[in-house]
Amino acid sequence: MTVSRIQRLSLTHFRNYRAASVRTASDIVVLAGPNGAGKTNCLEAISFLTPGRGLRRATLDDVADKEGDGSWAVSAEVEGALGLATLGTGIDLPAADAASTARRCRIDREPVTSAAAFGDHLRMVWLTPAMDGLFMGAASERRRFFDRLVLAIDSDHSSRVSALERSLRSRNRLLEDRNFDTHWCEAIERETAELAVAVAAMRGETVKRLSAALAAREATSPFPTARIALEGWMENALMSEPATAVEDRYRRILREGRARDAAAGRTLDGPHLTDLEVIYAPKNSPAKDASTGEQKALLIGLVIAHAGLVAEMTGITPLLLLDEVVAHLDPNRRAALFDALAQLGAQVWITGADPLAFSDIAARADIFHVEAGHIERRT
Ligand SMILES: Nc1ncnc2c1ncn2[C@@H]1O[C@H](COP(=O)(O)OP(=O)(O)OP(=O)(O)O)[C@@H](O)[C@H]1O
Ligand SMILES: [Mg+2]
Repeated sequence: MTVSRIQRLSLTHFRNYRAASVRTASDIVVLAGPNGAGKTNCLEAISFLTPGRGLRRATLDDVADKEGDGSWAVSAEVEGALGLATLGTGIDLPAADAASTARRCRIDREPVTSAAAFGDHLRMVWLTPAMDGLFMGAASERRRFFDRLVLAIDSDHSSRVSALERSLRSRNRLLEDRNFDTHWCEAIERETAELAVAVAAMRGETVKRLSAALAAREATSPFPTARIALEGWMENALMSEPATAVEDRYRRILREGRARDAAAGRTLDGPHLTDLEVIYAPKNSPAKDASTGEQKALLIGLVIAHAGLVAEMTGITPLLLLDEVVAHLDPNRRAALFDALAQLGAQVWITGADPLAFSDIAARADIFHVEAGHIERRT
């Protein structure tokens, strides 16, 4: 088992940071400081060491320092699955059309094609206040959340999800033309079905394993347990039927649904619409009906169980980014959280506005004070 650890982090022109650098020595890294200091920004910078748009789902020019020239960089010395490595990402030159520029990724200064390559070195899981409304919000939010969980296990998952979205867009565009080429449509639908099955299969595998992990922890976890399931016929069909049969069925659905989908302007069936159903196990009620605090505790339990699963399935204990998590917990739960993290053996980056919330763990943590884009070590 290897543990994903950041030993040094450098930020250059990333949001409110001009140039900042931190060195860590322990597995609990605390970023404390006033509102607007840059705590979440720092976690966001770390989250760019995975595929995708980071924990705020920002665009590449959103995260560039407003006072800079549009370039930005995040670099981390990582002790990970392949030993020591330096992972770097960012935008080198301000492009005329920043939205269409892909960020560059480097490992030990050598360019790599995408951030998926970082997955060979480290895995990551995060929890942020923006996720507080997860159970009340749209299905798309839960689907994205779950795809993130899958990505921590399978580094290629997000590129398959994006390819599926592109494929669906091509089909929708083609169907707009009433005289579309049916051979062409068939070819797109074949690709769509193939990608859909690949995406759904990995989701199904993850939900099955995560459910089992949650059930196994139920008796001992200090956090309430979630019961989870995917609401999507394809994920569920794949648990009992061969992938080829499911793929054929989806191709038929697509073929027969062309007129309907053309009228709607979108594809009305498929794993791009899957939802994650979450039950608050202690009361056997939908998570959305649980109290704010109950929902938060449920999410923490879910994320910790997932981190354990990532370790078990990949051999890499993921890095945890916990933004504003501690402030919501009473002292008992707070202690339970730190115990659970210690048991997991993961490196965790935690933020909070109140440094006193971390006094219990000050002795075994790296405590940093963050203010106005500066990070200073306190202990
Ligand atoms: N692109 C940018 N360039 C410069 N500054 C930015 C940029 N984007 C955001 N900021 C600034 O970064 C500041 C800090 O944001 P951040 O969310 O990290 O604070 P925080 O320490 O997490 O605060 P809180 O305790 O309120 O969560 C904000 O004041 C915001 O104006
Ligand atoms: Mg914040």
